[in-house]
Amino acid sequence: MAQARAARLKGRVAVVCGGARGIGRASALALAREGNAVAIADLREDQAAAVASELQDAGARAVAVAMDVTDPAAVRVGMAHASDALGAVEVLVNCAGWDEFKPFLATEEPFWRRVIAINYEGCLRTTQAVLGGMAERGWGRIVNLSSDAARVGSAQEAVYAGAKAAVIAFTKTIAREFARDGITANVVCPGSTDTDMLEEMVRGAPDSERLVGALERAVPMRRLGRPPEVAEAVAFLASEEAGYITGQTLSVSGGLTMA
Ligand SMILES: NC(=O)c1ccc[n+]([C@@H]2O[C@H](COP(=O)([O-])OP(=O)(O)OC[C@H]3O[C@@H](n4cnc5c(N)ncnc54)[C@H](O)[C@@H]3O)[C@@H](O)[C@H]2O)c1
Repeated sequence: MAQARAARLKGRVAVVCGGARGIGRASALALAREGNAVAIADLREDQAAAVASELQDAGARAVAVAMDVTDPAAVRVGMAHASDALGAVEVLVNCAGWDEFKPFLATEEPFWRRVIAINYEGCLRTTQAVLGGMAERGWGRIVNLSSDAARVGSAQEAVYAGAKAAVIAFTKTIAREFARDGITANVVCPGSTDTDMLEEMVRGAPDSERLVGALERAVPMRRLGRPPEVAEAVAFLASEEAGYITGQTLSVSGGLTMA
């Protein structure tokens, strides 16, 4: 019992990609509350710095790191910055994401490439940057953000849903390859969650008023998710206590999908 208590309080070093706002920011706050040191890695450097100072003010070790997950050099440099500042990376949370609502026939290849580069390839790149070190040290937690769109499809999100489904398959495979190295890899799938990303997507869509109502009505709980609700699942899967859970896909979506 005393041992379990000590394990719970052992702080790890976490990197949250896409941690400057939304679900990533909430995940960074939850990880810091659990005693972890947290690097906030994001394109939005000012917002990442604001989250890092918020965490420092609350007594946590935190640093902001400039990172574009679509740029291999930026990921390498950003991960090195995080580990120089806080120590070897033990927890990776991939929250960077982007989409626009568009009917599939209205999408073009540059849009496909952008969606896949951010939502899928970004995950591959950040994961590859930290996995070798985790395996050498015999401990690691990877938590990748996918979407319920990947599990049941989502009208006007064909390319994004496909990229997010790739995140699930990738995560399960990493879970298998590293199961004997003390590393777990799991997926959290939010449903529609009240963040800037969703707001920007809705604003850019025709008939945006009707769209929000439709998104809410699709959820058995009849409301959008809130970032801290998703962050609790992220923090649990990143914890010592979740050490026997790997390759799983957990929806946090008010019952939108049940499986
Ligand atoms: N909000 C939703 O309804 C919803 C639903 C399902 C899944 N998700 C997923 O959850 C994750 C978080 O979404 P959110 O709603 O909090 O979005 P958000 O836009 O509020 O936050 C995403 C963060 O990722 C960062 N980012 C974007 N591109 C990046 C890049 N190339 N490199 C580094 N950082 C980058 C942004 O700057 C931003 O800070 C995403 O993966 C998203 O696809 C969101």
